[in-house]
Amino acid sequence: MGRGGKRLRPAIVLLISRATTPDQDITSKHRRLAEITEMIHTASLVHDDVIDDSDLRRGIPTVHSSFGNRVAVLAGDFLFAQSSWYLANLDNLTVVKLLSEVIMNLAEGEIQQGLNRFDTHLSIEAYLEKSYYKTASLIANSSQGAGILSDVSGEMAKNLYNYGRHIGLAFQIVDDILDFTGSSDALGKPAASDLKSGNLTAPVLYALKEKPYLEALIEREFAQEEDLDQAIALVRDSGGIDRSRELAAYHAQQAVQNLADLPASQSREALTELADYVLSRLY
Ligand code: IPE
Ligand code: IPE
Ligand code: MG
Ligand code: MG
Repeated sequence: MGRGGKRLRPAIVLLISRATTPDQDITSKHRRLAEITEMIHTASLVHDDVIDDSDLRRGIPTVHSSFGNRVAVLAGDFLFAQSSWYLANLDNLTVVKLLSEVIMNLAEGEIQQGLNRFDTHLSIEAYLEKSYYKTASLIANSSQGAGILSDVSGEMAKNLYNYGRHIGLAFQIVDDILDFTGSSDALGKPAASDLKSGNLTAPVLYALKEKPYLEALIEREFAQEEDLDQAIALVRDSGGIDRSRELAAYHAQQAVQNLADLPASQSREALTELADYVLSRLY
């Protein structure tokens, strides 16, 4: 680690741009949308690390741990504002609307997550809705935006949106599994951190159905010395990880189905493989 991020989101925007303009080069607006998408993502991470009080990102200290919360909040705001400026300059009102909604959704997702901390009755549906707001909305709306910049049909725009939505959900579920199965070194960010802060993700929600004691540990917010370690062990020892893998695989597969109407091309192939890539991070 210790380098930039994976740049998954701009890769998707550029691939969709290519796949929807088979006979021409992609335009500077397509490229600019890819940049805007990564800018919004980066802003959301800077704020997310403040909210999670997380010290490590991409293998290096986070903005707030190096410069303090005030600077980190303003740095995130700056990136959101800068992305809005570039967005406005695309001169495409439909795309502006799509991406401004994403910025609202990001805040909504963090708020929902905050309100639901340590709530053992949280449903998988509510978890997926939060994941849509925090993660899938950006990928869905920027995927659709790339299509709109290529003047695709309304039907195709909807398919591209759904491709991004399902890829985004799969990606977040995988991230939530890796929080239990990965190491901080490999992830470049603290591992085993979601449960500690009361953020109950797919593996935990499924594990709760088999391990009643887990509920007691979470309800008392890990008040006793060994509680957190014990809870993490219960999740790892449950079928929750496998069930979450299946859920991620389901969304990856749904994503690919939305590519069916795109003309065959290398970019379409790459978008299909990207769904496998998202799942392959688990192995
Ligand atoms: C991290 O996103 C936040 C989630 C949505 C899980 P990425 O894993 O894409 O972060 P970078 O940009 O590659 O660091
Ligand atoms: C995604 O969720 C973060 C944002 C979309 C802002 P996480 O909270 O799981 O992200 P990480 O694990 O800190 O990267
Ligand atoms: Mg986080
Ligand atoms: Mg995470």
